[in-house]
Amino acid sequence: MSAWCCVNGRYGPIDEATVPINDRGFLFGDSVYEVFHVHDGRLWAAERHYRRLGRSLEAIGLNADLEAIRGWVDETLRQSRLAEAMVYLHVTRGVAPRNHAFPPDLKPTVVITVRPLVAMPEAERRRGVKAITVPEVRWRRRDIKSTNLLPNVLAKQQATRAGAYEALFVEADGTVNEGSSTNVFLVRDGALHTPAKGPQILPGITRDLLVETAREQGYAVEERTVKLSELFEADEVFLSGTTTEALGVVEVDSRRIADGQVGLVTRGLFEAYSERVRQGRD
Ligand code: PDD
Repeated sequence: MSAWCCVNGRYGPIDEATVPINDRGFLFGDSVYEVFHVHDGRLWAAERHYRRLGRSLEAIGLNADLEAIRGWVDETLRQSRLAEAMVYLHVTRGVAPRNHAFPPDLKPTVVITVRPLVAMPEAERRRGVKAITVPEVRWRRRDIKSTNLLPNVLAKQQATRAGAYEALFVEADGTVNEGSSTNVFLVRDGALHTPAKGPQILPGITRDLLVETAREQGYAVEERTVKLSELFEADEVFLSGTTTEALGVVEVDSRRIADGQVGLVTRGLFEAYSERVRQGRD
């Protein structure tokens, strides 16, 4: 089996699934989501993702049956028969004639898709990636994993056009928040620094796991405000995300980071993280 999906408990091939055009997820982006990595048939960091989903749902006042959703995710994955996969889970406020305000007691729409996950080629990961910076133009609740991703989409497209992997959102005062679909770290003098959690960034699951892994390995990790100028003075810069894992950045806005190679700390952390995934230690 390859791509498989579930819409409100009904399973089938992705191409045959539909949602009504009055779905508020479609009309307003009135919905939240999660992306999981499936490794060896197992949902990696499931509890962390469901906890974050619960927080996103609560933040937008959307009541959904998390137990039912978990059952549907497991069953969609089982029916897909995929062992290395990406699970996309999308919960919308439901279907109602278009009106910004929503009626009470709507039935949420739950869409789950499972697709094969193609790992980034080894050589590309070893080479590292480029990033560009873009002005931070998003709303101030980026801690909610909302499907309103237009600024992220446009930023990533701009990066792609520039031959870069990621676009980093930077405030007017030079504060670096995160990438369009990743969190960001820098390494300086053997210590890691990453933007602190708060409404300004998505609390990335991979970010947290890498912070924990780095501390286990004896690195100091500071969660604090990070400025763009610091990226240019860093020994290493890397991105984190569910499918990105830990990925070295060797160039930002066409300026080389350190010697332009993926650094030892990034490589070591990627290895330690991969081992952690293999052990199922989430
Ligand atoms: N993106 N920041 C943003 C804005 C993101 O969209 C993501 C994840 C992250 C990293 O979070 P995590 O480690 O939990 O994946 C940070 C997902 C993968 C996506 O939209 O496809």
